[in-house]
Amino acid sequence: MKRLAPSVLSADFSKLGEEAAAVERAGAQLLHIDVMDGRFVPNLTIGPAVMKSLIGRTSLPFDVHLMISDPDRYAPLFVTEQTEFITVHAEACTHLHRTLQSVRSLGVKAGVALNPATPLSTVEYVLELADLVLVMSVNPGFGGQSFIPSSLKKIRQLADLRRAEGYSFEIEIDGGVGTANIAEISSAGADIAVAGSAVYGASDVDARVKHLLAEMNGTAAGEK
Ligand code: DX5
Ligand code: ZN
Repeated sequence: MKRLAPSVLSADFSKLGEEAAAVERAGAQLLHIDVMDGRFVPNLTIGPAVMKSLIGRTSLPFDVHLMISDPDRYAPLFVTEQTEFITVHAEACTHLHRTLQSVRSLGVKAGVALNPATPLSTVEYVLELADLVLVMSVNPGFGGQSFIPSSLKKIRQLADLRRAEGYSFEIEIDGGVGTANIAEISSAGADIAVAGSAVYGASDVDARVKHLLAEMNGTAAGEK
């Protein structure tokens, strides 16, 4: 089953525990944590203390997306028993091969993220070290932006490459994902979809999570 990772960036921060528990109850399988440092991206968000405050409020695995300039220095702070992925940006890593090795050595799965303008060839020689490739479908920094259509082509090429070379990384899409495009994104080859405003901006969060999961897995009403 393909997985939905609601991003708490669009949640109500004054009741983050409840917001995380709500998407877990609805059937989401991961919790996406957007970490921004005000340098790599022009915004400041969540740090390790806030993420760790969710332990005990939800049992969803953490999907940590580091939009920060010095991931080698800060990645260890996000390691918990609940952390499944720590994803670094290819554009932020001078020695990406070494960084992915060191994330794995922390005992969590290593992800690498690509900005919309970054070609797949940037990660071609590190794919055997990646458990996840995150395709950014907006420029990182803010929730609620529009999906960049060329991201679909990138997902298809990545899925083809994975098949051709026999890699086992998962493919994640992040940015501008909603009910109107999640089925197409899934068909293109995404295994995990991040959704922030499409989940937490909905009037009925529970129904929206179920709808997105059904669209992603081809089980929405009217489909076979
Ligand atoms: C953007 C973040 C995303 C963001 C997605 O920089 O990485 O995870 O929360 O938000 P939506 O789904 O609203 O585009
Ligand atoms: Zn993200």
